[in-house]
Amino acid sequence: MEARAVHKTFRPSAGLAGEIRSLFRRKNDQGGVKAVRGVDLGIRRGEILGLVGESGSGKSTLGRVLSALYPPDQGTVFFEGNNVSAFGRPERRAFCRRVQFMFQDPASSLNPRITAFRTLSEGLVIHRLGNRAERRDRVSALMEEVGLDPSFLSRYPHQFSGGQRQRLCLARALSLNPEILIADEPSSALDVSVQAQIVNLLLAAKDGRGLTLVIISHDLALVSLIAGRIAIMYGGLLMEVLPRGLLGQVNHHPYVKALWASAEYGRASGEGLILEGEPPDPQSPPDGCPFHPRCPEAKDVCRTEPPLPKEGFPGHLTACHFR
Ligand SMILES: Nc1ncnc2c1ncn2[C@@H]1O[C@H](COP(=O)(O)OP(=O)(O)OP(=O)(O)O)[C@@H](O)[C@H]1O
Ligand code: SF4
Ligand SMILES: [Mg+2]
Repeated sequence: MEARAVHKTFRPSAGLAGEIRSLFRRKNDQGGVKAVRGVDLGIRRGEILGLVGESGSGKSTLGRVLSALYPPDQGTVFFEGNNVSAFGRPERRAFCRRVQFMFQDPASSLNPRITAFRTLSEGLVIHRLGNRAERRDRVSALMEEVGLDPSFLSRYPHQFSGGQRQRLCLARALSLNPEILIADEPSSALDVSVQAQIVNLLLAAKDGRGLTLVIISHDLALVSLIAGRIAIMYGGLLMEVLPRGLLGQVNHHPYVKALWASAEYGRASGEGLILEGEPPDPQSPPDGCPFHPRCPEAKDVCRTEPPLPKEGFPGHLTACHFR
């Protein structure tokens, strides 16, 4: 799967509220939240790719565009060489089965009015997989795979704990036997021991099923433990893509350098180091390099020219004028 020059902007709603907002727009603001601003990223079969960045950097939006939950408004997502946006109904249906997205917030992504059984069997019914008895067996096996007692199948989401709801979301994402699973912050809302359990379940599912896994997270330290490759986003753009083994070994993009120092410091001290300054406003991102207002190495060119990603070592891309 591959994203090529993908952009996604959320336009403000029309009507009176939209018109009033447009009166107060700032100079660079052409309207809308520019969540993803031109991303090229390939996902390799069988890998674990970690997509990392601060809140608002566009990770979830990119994940949703890759999963065809949002159409890109520029650029293309290719799946097995085909443009996903051009898929007809049958291809789209197959794509939706083969590529699953696991939502960031399990509480709001589960329908509170349906039982765990219906949550897990809905996809099988929609895709007409198995008869009633086969679906029941499959759903019970999914519960066991994610460490939930099949006797809980008649429960509603509120009757599960946060960690159990996350397990239920994972079981639902696995129910259609996908090839690619994009897991959005699979553990951020949970305490550390439950986080580790969810991550272990994802890794077990990856190994047992031969999944390709994209793990979206703000936590570089966590991702560096599990991903084979890491892509770091900032302000809707990729700053660096690298194999895990190069973390701490190369002259990183200044943003990644700060993130990695913070991850290392966090590991040593038990708390994160806060990067100074604010992430860019996605309604009026800065010209040039999106990181320049916070970058200790910024020069004049950084304020006007956006740096393009360049390859250093094979498989190592950095978007910085001075790398
Ligand atoms: N449906 C939407 N409508 C309008 N704006 C949106 C929508 N979804 C995301 N955004 C905005 O797009 C930007 C990128 O959001 P996104 O959720 O992709 O970031 P993220 O990196 O996943 O952040 P987080 O770590 O907080 O989950 C943010 O400014 C966000 O407010
Ligand atoms: S391009 Fe300039 S501002 Fe951006 S990261 Fe590199 S040095 Fe910093
Ligand atoms: Mg997100």
